[in-house]
Amino acid sequence: MHATALLLTLLPALATAHFSVTYPTDRGSNSQTQADSPCGGKNTPSSTRTKWPIAGGQLSFEAGHDEANTAVYLALGNNPVKDDFKIILKDKFLQIGLGTFCWNELTVPGDLGIKNGDNATIQVVQAGHSGGGLYNCADITFTDAPMRIAQACVNGTGVSAQEATTSAPSASGSGSAAPAATTSAKPSSAAESVRVAGGALLAGAVGVAAWLL
Ligand SMILES: *[C@@H]1O[C@H](CO)[C@@H](O)[C@H](O)[C@H]1NC(C)=O
Ligand SMILES: *[C@@H]1O[C@H](CO)[C@@H](O)[C@H](O)[C@H]1NC(C)=O
Repeated sequence: MHATALLLTLLPALATAHFSVTYPTDRGSNSQTQADSPCGGKNTPSSTRTKWPIAGGQLSFEAGHDEANTAVYLALGNNPVKDDFKIILKDKFLQIGLGTFCWNELTVPGDLGIKNGDNATIQVVQAGHSGGGLYNCADITFTDAPMRIAQACVNGTGVSAQEATTSAPSASGSGSAAPAATTSAKPSSAAESVRVAGGALLAGAVGVAAWLL
């Protein structure tokens, strides 16, 4: 009885170990709905989109938990739905350490046909302790203007990345707690990017299937 009560007290805290994308500007996050794919319950794209380089740009988030399986996806279009988040910007990995996690340049596959002014949404997904994902999205407009460094990109002390574990989350929310085969947890290579770009639908389906294996 006592132990159960204690467990129930702890559960909400574990389930809402949320995080937030700090660059590009996110849609906002709500700890009550952050487990809803694809954008943590924030279903309306931001009216002001961050301009982001066509070849890829900076991304930072504040980790709310000292260890979480994480991945970054991209969906093209003005208002993508959950099955659209098929382009891998950062394949699943285990984020270690609290605080700021920043990449100077996350590369966008080069042959997606993206043009200056095209809109897209970046999705960061982290595994929650309940087994499902926690989601946060940032809306962007691609620009061919030279990249300006938007802000200092510095990782928090002790922040690092390791190979994803078996509870890595999926982009769509389906098949959560998909075991990560060690082979699929490696960083996406150029060849993989080309494959995703070469047949977005097919590769996307394969990507989702890979999460489920
Ligand atoms: C991108 O989104 C903005 C609104 O944020 C819209 O005005 C613009 O027309 C969109 N661009 C394209 C190519 O649809
Ligand atoms: C932050 O850490 C990650 C994981 O080790 C690394 O990929 C990234 O390049 C680092 N960011 C900077 C700005 O050094």
